Amino acid sequence: MAGRIPQSFIDDLLARVDIVEVIDRYVPLKKMGANHKACCPFHGEKTPSFTVSQSKQFYHCFGCGVHGTAISFLMEFDNMHFVDAVEYLADRVGMTVPRDALVPISASQQGLYEALKKSADYFQSELRDSGEAVSYLKNRGITGETALEFQLGFAPSAWHSLVKNIPNAESSLLTSGMLVRNDSGKTHDRFRNRIMFPIRDRRGRVIGFGGRVMDQGEPKYLNSPETPLFQKGRELYGLYELRKATRNSPDRIIVVEGYMDVIALAQVGIKYAVATLGTATSSEQVELLFRESDEIVFCFDGDNAGRKAAWRALNSALGSLKSGRDARFLFLPEGKDPDNVVAEHGPEHFTNLVSSEALEASAFLFQGLQLQAGKGSETTGTGHKARLAELAKPLINKIPAGVYRDLVAGQLEQIVGVTVFTDKPASTPPRPPVAQPRDNDPSNQPSPVRRALTAILNDPSVVLKIDPEEFDFSDQIPGASLLLTIIALVESQPDVTSSGILENFRDRPEWNILNKLAMANLEETAESGIRDPLSIASHAIRKLNEESLRRELKADASGLAKLPSAMSEAEKEELRRQINSLKK
Ligand code: UTP
Ligand code: MN
Repeated sequence: MAGRIPQSFIDDLLARVDIVEVIDRYVPLKKMGANHKACCPFHGEKTPSFTVSQSKQFYHCFGCGVHGTAISFLMEFDNMHFVDAVEYLADRVGMTVPRDALVPISASQQGLYEALKKSADYFQSELRDSGEAVSYLKNRGITGETALEFQLGFAPSAWHSLVKNIPNAESSLLTSGMLVRNDSGKTHDRFRNRIMFPIRDRRGRVIGFGGRVMDQGEPKYLNSPETPLFQKGRELYGLYELRKATRNSPDRIIVVEGYMDVIALAQVGIKYAVATLGTATSSEQVELLFRESDEIVFCFDGDNAGRKAAWRALNSALGSLKSGRDARFLFLPEGKDPDNVVAEHGPEHFTNLVSSEALEASAFLFQGLQLQAGKGSETTGTGHKARLAELAKPLINKIPAGVYRDLVAGQLEQIVGVTVFTDKPASTPPRPPVAQPRDNDPSNQPSPVRRALTAILNDPSVVLKIDPEEFDFSDQIPGASLLLTIIALVESQPDVTSSGILENFRDRPEWNILNKLAMANLEETAESGIRDPLSIASHAIRKLNEESLRRELKADASGLAKLPSAMSEAEKEELRRQINSLKK
């Protein structure tokens, strides 16, 4: 279960990040007065109404109403997931997202990692002693160095080697899938007489194994079952080794089908291949890979099974496609895998194939759809085109809105010769207009809570300039408890920015209203530029204290007796008047 990134980290992060710099990389901004501006990237316009405030670390478009923090911008404009956006920003300012908070490790999980690490170490040492296993690997062209890089090992042909060699770990070995319990309740080793391939997570921790027979036995590969640490759809064989070898920034990543392909490619210097774990490529895996590199090449056997696997991979990749990213598909001659190709023709031949033969995702998409739509020999008729368009639409709609999708949709329209996307989704979903007409009717004045929140979101430091005793109003006033929470937040983190405050509420019901309030003020400042947040906040908070007192008095019929003696007669008179008006 993924834990949350601690809110304090996000606050710190947003205090260090500069939203102007972040957005400027995507949308060049111009300084205009107190703010930075550009033509809004979320809707078409000719005069810039997209405004970025450096002091508030907040953006807002007066035209279409989009608004948010640096995190929101990356999520909305670059389609990043929340965690990715946080990681991206952290990376830019040299902070490390507290990983252990992302996936909290319980003591029992710690035990599982240890049991797996000890198993890998044990298999590795067994490999040294097994002549048969060593010569198997040598025959397949694997050097000792590569075996070390991938920590290859050997599981001996015994039933209880792990419990014998790893003391006091039986239950962890069982939970981590290294042992199997038989019908009579006894346990034994899952992997016997197999070459062992440890599967590591991105941090290098062993989370499972694949084990290969050395003869014609079945199954050829045995894999660890899914365990609390090992989810096949979320991991990739070789990703840790790739990150290590390419120092985290490979130009491209090649996705191959087999463990031995990854290893054989690494052996000849192509250290940027990964394999799925005997399962179809999931969209989560594609997303993981696009975090490492902008180009992914799926390399499959050209046979039927390989094409099916590639089609599934394409389906998983569509949701991650956008301009700047490339997914391509390379089909090898039937029955050949990358291991065979480099063994027969050398690494350069393979890299040449990747550069020159790999199909673009859209080309492969249309190739596959043409086949599906082409019943019999007819491939040009109206019926065929109609089928093609119908098949293509849902797939193209999986691509996130943007230039990439528009291009692929354009290709389809060219192929079928008519406009297919009459209902073409706009590049961004329409947003509710947020800029409301100004309302001068004083009875519609925003409540004190609203005004205080707006002022604080506009400039959190006002909280520090108001006497803390003032923050003693009743939390029974609608919205007051939210206001008090935010005041406490600023008091505990004096450097927090407006966007930092907002990010505390991202998954909470208050998120929308707070965004609106933060923005409402931006509008006013932009229009008149005369309102001073400290005066607004102190005035509003004074009103809240009065309201509190009124509520207390109203709740207690003998309220007047409770009036603080320090109150002047005039103030008491004013209160009486207010109470009377309340009673009406
Ligand atoms: P291959 O049979 O193509 O494996 O299966 P390979 O890597 O080329 O193996 P070698 O070259 O014969 O040693 C591809 C992948 O499918 C999964 C494994 O992940 C394997 O790497 N697989 C295959 C299994 O999980 N179980 C099997 O029995 C076979
Ligand atoms: Mn092979």
